[in-house]
Amino acid sequence: MRKLIDIKKTLVAAATVLLTATAFAQTTGGEVEVLHWWTSGGEARAAAALKQQLQQQGHTWRDFAVAGGGGDNAMTVLKSRVMAGNPPSAAQIKGPSLQEWGELGVLTNLNDVARAGNWDNLVPRVIGDIMKHNGNWIAVPVNVHRVNWLWTNPEVFRRAGARVPTNWDEFFVAAEALRRAGVIPLAHGGQNWQDFTLFESVALGVGGTDFYRSALVQLDQTALRSATMTRVLETFRRVKAHTDRNAPGRDWNLATAMVIRGEAGMQLMGDWAKGEFIAAGRVPGRDFGCVAAPGTANAFTFNVDSFAMFRLRNEANTRAQRDLANAILSPEFQEVFNLNKGSIPVRLNMNLERFDECARMSSRDFVETSRRGTLVPSIAHGMAVRSAASGAMQDVVSQFWNDDRVTVQNAQERLARAAQTR
Ligand code: BGC
Repeated sequence: MRKLIDIKKTLVAAATVLLTATAFAQTTGGEVEVLHWWTSGGEARAAAALKQQLQQQGHTWRDFAVAGGGGDNAMTVLKSRVMAGNPPSAAQIKGPSLQEWGELGVLTNLNDVARAGNWDNLVPRVIGDIMKHNGNWIAVPVNVHRVNWLWTNPEVFRRAGARVPTNWDEFFVAAEALRRAGVIPLAHGGQNWQDFTLFESVALGVGGTDFYRSALVQLDQTALRSATMTRVLETFRRVKAHTDRNAPGRDWNLATAMVIRGEAGMQLMGDWAKGEFIAAGRVPGRDFGCVAAPGTANAFTFNVDSFAMFRLRNEANTRAQRDLANAILSPEFQEVFNLNKGSIPVRLNMNLERFDECARMSSRDFVETSRRGTLVPSIAHGMAVRSAASGAMQDVVSQFWNDDRVTVQNAQERLARAAQTR
C-alpha cells in the first residue's frame, strides 16, 4: 500500500514537472534578431536598454548591428537578407520607406498588439499614420529626434568672445570669432548623410518652413528652381569654409567629440549627438549648449526611429517579436531609452522629470510647432520622401559640398532633376 502511494506521488510530481515545462516552453524561449545602426557611445547605451528589456521577458536577443550612422549601410544589408528569404525579426526602418517595405508584403500585421496596447491613443496621430500601411500597424515608433539643432561648447565661445548665433548671418560672425581664437568653428564629418543633414538645416533657416515643405517634402519644381534655393546653396557652400580639412570620412560622433574636447566650437546635428555628450558625462547648459539651428527656432524637423517587424515562421520567435513591439511603448522603456538616445519619448503624456533642458525644449517645441504647422519631416533622415528621390538628392548635395568646381547653378539644376527620381 505504502509503495503504491509513493508511486502515485511520483507520478503526480512527474506530471506536474511535465506540465510546467510545457507551459514554460509556450511562454518563453523566443529569439529576436534586431537590425539597427546604433553603434556610437550614446546609441549603444540606448540599444542595450532594448536588449535588457527583452531579456527580462525571457527572450534571447540577437544583435544585428550594421555600423554607419544614418543607416545607409544597414539598409543595403537588410535588402540582401530579405531577398534571401531570411529577414530579421525587426529592423530599424523609418518614414516613407515603411510603405516601400509594406508594399513588398514581407512585414507582419501588428494590429492585435496595437489594439491591446491602445497605440492609437498613445502615439501622436502624425506619427501613427507613418507606422501604418493600408491602415494596418506594421511598425512601432521608438522616439522623436529633432534634427535642427546647433550644439556648442560654451567655454570655447567664452574664450573667443563669440555669441551663439540665432540666424545664418550671426553664424558667420561667430565662426570668424572662433577661427581667430584658434579653434575649428564647425565640426563636420564626411558621409553623404551628414552633408544632407547640414543642408536641410540651412534650407530651413534660410528659406523658412513653407519653402522647406514645398522644396524638400512636396518636391515642387518651382521651389527647387527658385531664387531661395540659390541662396540656400550659396549659404551652404559658405559654411564649408568653416569646417576643417580632415572632415572627409569622419564619423558624426567623432565630430561631436571635437566639440566635447573643445577643438571645435559647434556642430549641426540631430539630437543623437546629445547622447554622445551625455555618454561622455557632460552636463547640458554647463558643458555644452543646445539651441535651434540658425534661423529655425520656430520650426522642428522631426526624425522618428521605428522598428518594422517581419513576418516569421517560428512560433516562439513570433511571440518574442510581439513582446518586443509591446515593450517599446512601455513608459519604463520610453524613459530609459530616450534618456540615453538624446531623443524624446514618442509616447504621449510621459513624465519628463528626469529629462534635461534640451529634451524639455524639444518636447515643448514639438507640441508648439505641430500646433502652428511648422513641424516638418527631415529629408536627410528618410522622413520626408521616398528613398529613390532622397538618395539621388543626397548625392547631388554631397557632390556640391565636396567639389568646389560644381557651380551653384549646376547643383541647383541637378537637385531639381534628382527630385524627380522614382
Ligand atoms: C537615426 C538615429 C541615429 C542617427 C545616427 C539617424 O538616421 O534616426 O537613431 O542615431 O541616424 O546614426
